[in-house]
Amino acid sequence: MEMIDQITALQKEVESFKANGPQDLEAFRLRFVSRKGVLGELFEKLKQIPPAEKKAVGKALNDLKQSAEARFREMSEATAVEKKTTDDIDLTLPPVPNRIGNLHPLTLTRARIIKIFERLGFNVEEGPEIEDDWHNFSALNFPENHPAREMQDTFFISKNPDILLRTHTSNVQIRLLERTKPPVRAIMPGRVYRNEAISARAHCFFHQVEGLYIDRNVGFADLKQTLYHFAREMFGKDTKIRFRPSFFPFTEPSAEMDISCLICKGAGCPVCKRTGWVEIGGSGMVHPNVLRNCNVDPEEFTGFAFGMGIERITMLRYQINDLRLFSENDIRFLRQFQSVS
Ligand code: DAH
Repeated sequence: MEMIDQITALQKEVESFKANGPQDLEAFRLRFVSRKGVLGELFEKLKQIPPAEKKAVGKALNDLKQSAEARFREMSEATAVEKKTTDDIDLTLPPVPNRIGNLHPLTLTRARIIKIFERLGFNVEEGPEIEDDWHNFSALNFPENHPAREMQDTFFISKNPDILLRTHTSNVQIRLLERTKPPVRAIMPGRVYRNEAISARAHCFFHQVEGLYIDRNVGFADLKQTLYHFAREMFGKDTKIRFRPSFFPFTEPSAEMDISCLICKGAGCPVCKRTGWVEIGGSGMVHPNVLRNCNVDPEEFTGFAFGMGIERITMLRYQINDLRLFSENDIRFLRQFQSVS
């Protein structure tokens, strides 16, 4: 047989070869890939071919070599995959857990608070954490050199002019009234800072949500009903609330709001210090001076405001007993909120 015909026949054989298992694959390797196989012989023979034909035959032979190698690789991969799915994988093993991230508990609480108030028609507003004296104190009716300023230990960034880290989210009340005219109905979540020693119950930064509702004829009954609705939505429909008279420079009258203790249902336990009640925030009717400071006429408009601690609410919701857990980024703590909403 002419050498070129022999090559064509082998090419066909290579193309149509089917390996039904490792033995066939090995047979293919010995015949077509190994140097001692047919191709080795043909390369030997090529040396005796007359120079005129050598180029064409040599090319055909090289093509054959390449397709044999490609076919071999293809068949080896196919049998390797087959082998894996049949022998190497134990389909009865439990799957490797695929850990996805989850939201921080404070983020979960913030989202829940927003959802409840949004349904009452409150917008979400934000303001700066680095603030001046006017928005954090003076516009909120804290008199100059008045001890009320010391209720909140302030981190100052500079003195004269006073620039500070906001001590509460009440600054956003002022910022909002500067840019919108009443009626306004908004909640303002955010981070606040106080110069406090860090412990299980206090931290130098934490989160609050401020609320502000200003319109014609807004009264204390509206404040109570709004916060009562919030407490029941947040903590369950059997939750009771109570208001205790208090003092804040920016509200008059002012009240602190308690909810019935979720843990002991009012019977008395360490969380509520045996009183049956836990404080969740401050509230009151916006002081006329605050309205005047924002160019709102207190004869025409009245309103209520409130401020609650997001950490406090989260601790009650999930029965967490140490504030520091929120900022330590301990994955064992954070992962516990994977399936919580
Ligand atoms: N700003 C107060 C605080 O940080 C909380 C507060 C009390 C906010 C009464 C209010 C309010 O809007 O009316 O302690």
